[in-house]
Amino acid sequence: MTRRILVTSALPYANGPIHLGHILEAVQTDIWVRFQQLKGEECVYVCADDTHGTAIMLRAENEGITPEALIARVQAEHERDYAGFNIGFAQFHSTHSPENERLSQDMYRRLRANGHISRRRITQLFDPEKQLFLADRFIKGTCPKCRTPDQYGDNCEACNATYSPSDLIDPRSTLSGATPIEKDSEHFFFTLPAFTDMLKTWTRSGTLQESVANKLSEWLDGGLQEWDISRDAPYFGFEIPDEPGKYFYVWLDAPVGYMASFEALCKRTGLDFDAYWKPGHDTELYHFIGKDIVNFHTLFWPAMLSSVGYRTPTGVFVHGFVTINGQKMSKSRGTFINASDYLAHLDPEYLRYYFAAKLSSAVDDLDLNLDDFVARVNADLVGKVVNIASRCAGFISKGFDGVLSAQCSEPALVAEFQAAKDEIAAHYESRDYSKALRQIMALADKANAYIADKAPWTLAKTDKQSSEVQAICSTGINLFRLLMSYLKPVLPTMAARAEAFLAIEPLHWHSVDTLLLGHRIGAFTPLLTRVEPDKVAAMMASAGAGAAGAAAAGTTAAGTSPVGAGLPANKDADNSAPAATTAAPLAQEPLAEEIAYPDFAKVDLRIARIVNAEHVEGAEKLLKLQLDLGLGADGAPVLRTVFSGIKSAYDPASLVGRLTVLVANLAPRKMKFGMSEGMVLAAGPGGKDIWLLQPDSGAQPGMRVV
Ligand code: MSP
Ligand code: ZN
Repeated sequence: MTRRILVTSALPYANGPIHLGHILEAVQTDIWVRFQQLKGEECVYVCADDTHGTAIMLRAENEGITPEALIARVQAEHERDYAGFNIGFAQFHSTHSPENERLSQDMYRRLRANGHISRRRITQLFDPEKQLFLADRFIKGTCPKCRTPDQYGDNCEACNATYSPSDLIDPRSTLSGATPIEKDSEHFFFTLPAFTDMLKTWTRSGTLQESVANKLSEWLDGGLQEWDISRDAPYFGFEIPDEPGKYFYVWLDAPVGYMASFEALCKRTGLDFDAYWKPGHDTELYHFIGKDIVNFHTLFWPAMLSSVGYRTPTGVFVHGFVTINGQKMSKSRGTFINASDYLAHLDPEYLRYYFAAKLSSAVDDLDLNLDDFVARVNADLVGKVVNIASRCAGFISKGFDGVLSAQCSEPALVAEFQAAKDEIAAHYESRDYSKALRQIMALADKANAYIADKAPWTLAKTDKQSSEVQAICSTGINLFRLLMSYLKPVLPTMAARAEAFLAIEPLHWHSVDTLLLGHRIGAFTPLLTRVEPDKVAAMMASAGAGAAGAAAAGTTAAGTSPVGAGLPANKDADNSAPAATTAAPLAQEPLAEEIAYPDFAKVDLRIARIVNAEHVEGAEKLLKLQLDLGLGADGAPVLRTVFSGIKSAYDPASLVGRLTVLVANLAPRKMKFGMSEGMVLAAGPGGKDIWLLQPDSGAQPGMRVV
């Protein structure tokens, strides 16, 4: 019986570009979906942009456009990026769609009718200038515990204390700089605790990875809380029925977006919506998600579905996070790689292969190590797989007019390749792609060993038309075809090129049960070229260029004012322009674009004493500075190493003991010569004319510059 399967990936937030973390998820899902389809199952994959919330509203406001215009632009970019990686969505929709509005409001009405919505007034911090209730991340202030300034509303980065935003000393809105006031309003809640028993059963019914189920058990045993599903106007989202001025919290309508996208697909193709969402049908529903959004998909979502009489997911599959060379993806470190950065330089098949080769069914993080990436893709795909075809094809086309022999010469080996089918299928099915590929590459090794052992090139030297040469090379081509069938879920484009070269119908999973005998193949064309390391470097450079002025951290004295260059990346800031400059009597450069106070408030300027300064071997402009920032929160001295482009103006020895202003919260930047932990401010046109703070200013290390 054909399985009927609906599959989703998490809906990417419309507030930013598609990055390699999204791509990992989409590739993991896409491989699974393609595998099912190749097996002949009826499997559809839907997704959408997640478009609602305060952040999108504010970003549109900043750009001076409507949220609708913003999300339309972003959706086009998202679709382009996913298509670039060959992600085979049947439908890519939007949560800001009529289908989603109707389905979300309908869901809410039924929850309410079932007594699963409660209401009560709650008090929150409110920005009196912006007239907005403030989520924790929009409030900053001084930590009530260790008194470090500039900490977010929920926890302190310096001492790790957690607290509520109203505990902050001197809190302010990051949106306007205003002091927030307390204000209450009515909120609507989903009565999650009523579903505790249902969830205890559902999470243990084989729907989840064991580690995920175990984590959830802790939460379930600790007791669930009601979930706040409403937000006050102004908010970009859907209004709550019968409650003017109240909106659904973005996470209420986001998962309903899976249904909305599928409904749009049903309208186009005639698929039966109810067969996939009402209980009692033998359809399957799977969500692929990252580890940060587990509670939404394994608590709120199944509980809501079961309240209103929809089916619950067959499985929720959780993956870990992508790291780059062992580091978290980070804009300021230049390790934040957007899908478009990758696609501008490299073939998508490389990354699909690399991710697959490292993916398992576990929730572990996955490191994209760029050296390993180059080595692995070249060794496996080019060195092993393509090599089989390229070594055999020439003999067949030259000696035998492209026609393969009527029989393979090594039946046992061919049979071994064919017999691997079920085991490889089981690995794909259970999302153990790394195991599937290890097995496929072990077979590829055997095919290469066979060809090397038979050395058709030696035989062909004496007789180009030897039937033995034809049989060996035909066997090689057949082994290659079997491998490509197994690889097709991972490498759809390379498989299509192989199909063209072999002059065959599209391969499917059961193609491995047959062989290609007495068949005329086409001319060999390169199926995949080697990964070139300089293209990888170029990709990293363009990803790093997105990190605001990070490259400028050590070279700021290159003739322009270094003041303010190299601010940490901020999505909304124009990174190419230096930020506010100090008052200069001579306007040597036009003033930079105006920034709002909250942007400026992010910059932590401190007095630092230069305790050591030295030349850096091989660097034209840089000095390596050791800076003393006074005593830290824990009473220990805070020391920083900073590379600064002031060599043309200062003899290192003359700097020791002097004071300077440091951008103290600039993310560390790895430079050719070492890690630079901040940025020294100086003024002047460059050359000999770069001025630091006057030595006699009376300031003390660690003082805040105000
Ligand atoms: N909009 C929500 C999802 C709503 S689903 C009804 C969201 N969006 S997101 O853009 O932040 O993330 C989308 C998916 O990408 C999530 O599954 C998330 O876990 C995943 N990833 C985001 N960064 C990631 C990595 N660095 N690595 C791997 N996956 C990551 O959450
Ligand atoms: Zn603190």
